[in-house]
Amino acid sequence: MAKVTSKKENVRSMFNSIAKRYDFLNHLLSMGIDRLWRKRLVKMLVEHNPETVLDVATGTADLAIAVTKYSKAKITGIDIAEEMVNIGRMKIASLNLNQQIELKVADSENIPFSDNAFDAAIVAFGVRNFETLNKGLSEMNRVLKSGGMIAVLEFSRPRHFPVRNLYMFYFRYILPSLGRMISGDKSAYTYLPDSVKQFPDGSDFLQHLIETGFIRTTEKRLSFGIATIYTGFKA
Ligand SMILES: C[S@@+](CC[C@H](N)C(=O)[O-])C[C@H]1O[C@@H](n2cnc3c(N)ncnc32)[C@H](O)[C@@H]1O
Repeated sequence: MAKVTSKKENVRSMFNSIAKRYDFLNHLLSMGIDRLWRKRLVKMLVEHNPETVLDVATGTADLAIAVTKYSKAKITGIDIAEEMVNIGRMKIASLNLNQQIELKVADSENIPFSDNAFDAAIVAFGVRNFETLNKGLSEMNRVLKSGGMIAVLEFSRPRHFPVRNLYMFYFRYILPSLGRMISGDKSAYTYLPDSVKQFPDGSDFLQHLIETGFIRTTEKRLSFGIATIYTGFKA
């Protein structure tokens, strides 16, 4: 009988296999814009002065590291892909941030922390990978203190001509071939456009935040809607 692998296992092994090239590819394929998007999220976060932050699907810790530029908060990053976490740990050590950021291999759909533990929970380009979106969001809600903030950065789909058409072309044809050539992984950069196509964005995504217990939800579209930052607060 053929072995059935879950989405989670596929995602974990895909990120483990591209971990060493992830940062380079990310910045190249997004032409560096990903850094500006993370910075926008951090600026929105620090307005609320969190002292403890959980960075879900932290990967190589770029978002956690970005937070340290504007805040003294203690940051905990979790990710299921050990190889991504190993690279994150090396970056943190080389930046002397061991006192401020701690990484742990853990699943966002089963977060190994107690209820009401964090002032804020953040995630960049991670929620799209969850096996069950609402399970991950509910877990983020559970570990937040009452009034705690969630901020989610994720790809979205531009709505208007010509950005929409250019974006579709880039995502469908250019990015998968470039990603394949450089990463050597056939699936990683076809997975990206496919997963973005199927993933809820705009008010559909806000609906998921509401269903999982968040209030005062907002969306901030970035770069003509190629990405969006969603925010909300635990009731
Ligand atoms: C595209 S990377 C984003 C990494 C980082 N947040 C960034 O901004 O570059 C997605 C990450 O989500 C992680 N991931 C996917 N599903 C997860 C889950 N259920 N729990 C924790 N991490 C998960 C992957 O291992 C991968 O490192």
